Amino acid sequence: MRSPTRLLFNSNVTSITMFTGKGGVGKTTCSAATSLHFATSGLTLAISTDATPSLSHIFEISDGHKPAEVLPTLHIHEIGEAEIKEMWDKKFGREVYEVLSAFVDISYEDFAEFMTSILPGLREEFMVDYIRELSLKGMYSNIVWDTAPLGQTLTLLETPTLLDKHLRIAPRIYSRLKVGRRSREPVLAILKRWEELSAKNMDFLRKDVNFTMVTIPEALAVEQLEGVFREISKYGLSVKQMIINNVVRTEESEFLKTKAGQQQQYLKHIHEKYSNLKIVELPMFPQEIRGLPKLRGVEKILFP
Ligand SMILES: Nc1ncnc2c1ncn2[C@@H]1O[C@H](COP(=O)(O)OP(=O)(O)OP(=O)(O)O)[C@@H](O)[C@H]1O
Ligand SMILES: [Mg+2]
Repeated sequence: MRSPTRLLFNSNVTSITMFTGKGGVGKTTCSAATSLHFATSGLTLAISTDATPSLSHIFEISDGHKPAEVLPTLHIHEIGEAEIKEMWDKKFGREVYEVLSAFVDISYEDFAEFMTSILPGLREEFMVDYIRELSLKGMYSNIVWDTAPLGQTLTLLETPTLLDKHLRIAPRIYSRLKVGRRSREPVLAILKRWEELSAKNMDFLRKDVNFTMVTIPEALAVEQLEGVFREISKYGLSVKQMIINNVVRTEESEFLKTKAGQQQQYLKHIHEKYSNLKIVELPMFPQEIRGLPKLRGVEKILFP
């Protein structure tokens, strides 16, 4: 029997915990239960950067407020497309548009649409920025960050590199355009600021964000883990803890016995390979996990 373990989190300043993992492994469930736990010791925000609203579904909240209040000390916020555009708008949008509209005939709406769709990772870049700023404001003791399925999370990790590439090419493009000195300078200044913002966001991810991997004891999920860890370390980010979800603990039927038996090899593999991480096993529950009482049950296992 492995010794019981619990998730560890820093409790100085704003603690930021990001749950990541492939689609459907239980990121939102773990985020919700963790935020519920943190809410007992300080004002906590569970924030989702997933396009489909799932935190409100899991907490059974339908008041439409942003952020919505689950408990007096627990707020949830699901960031949508519109908010991302707004952030880009505030930081760079209008400025970049003003310069470009001098030689490109395009409406601001089309321009913003174009930029947010052509620049891969722009969405993620501004998500990170939003959460970084939120943590600087110090309004919340804890921020729990529920991310979208892994494909998109990896884009998030690519963002700074991609932006860096864009930024390196951009000045060359601008310098070839026949624009006067006056309009070229601001473009370069904006790009420089953007580059600095990118670096700041990456630094924030490296130093202040506590990455928690969520996985399940199944062949495909276990195989993918290796690649994900490689990717994450490539950017100097580190995962310190992992949740293995959907672990079958009862063997009351042939079906469950077979399932549990099959999981054993994957559990063993994960524990051996990632013995440097804090690992918590979360059993598979017979029913869907929705609403506070069920989430409290998950909380008790993650934080015994
Ligand atoms: N331990 C568990 N026992 C039973 N059901 C679970 C468990 N963990 C998660 N579920 C259920 O599995 C489904 C997917 O979980 P969840 O939404 O948390 O995954 P996710 O990783 O956030 O998915 P996505 O990648 O789509 O965002 C939900 O219906 C949830 O209730
Ligand atoms: Mg989810």
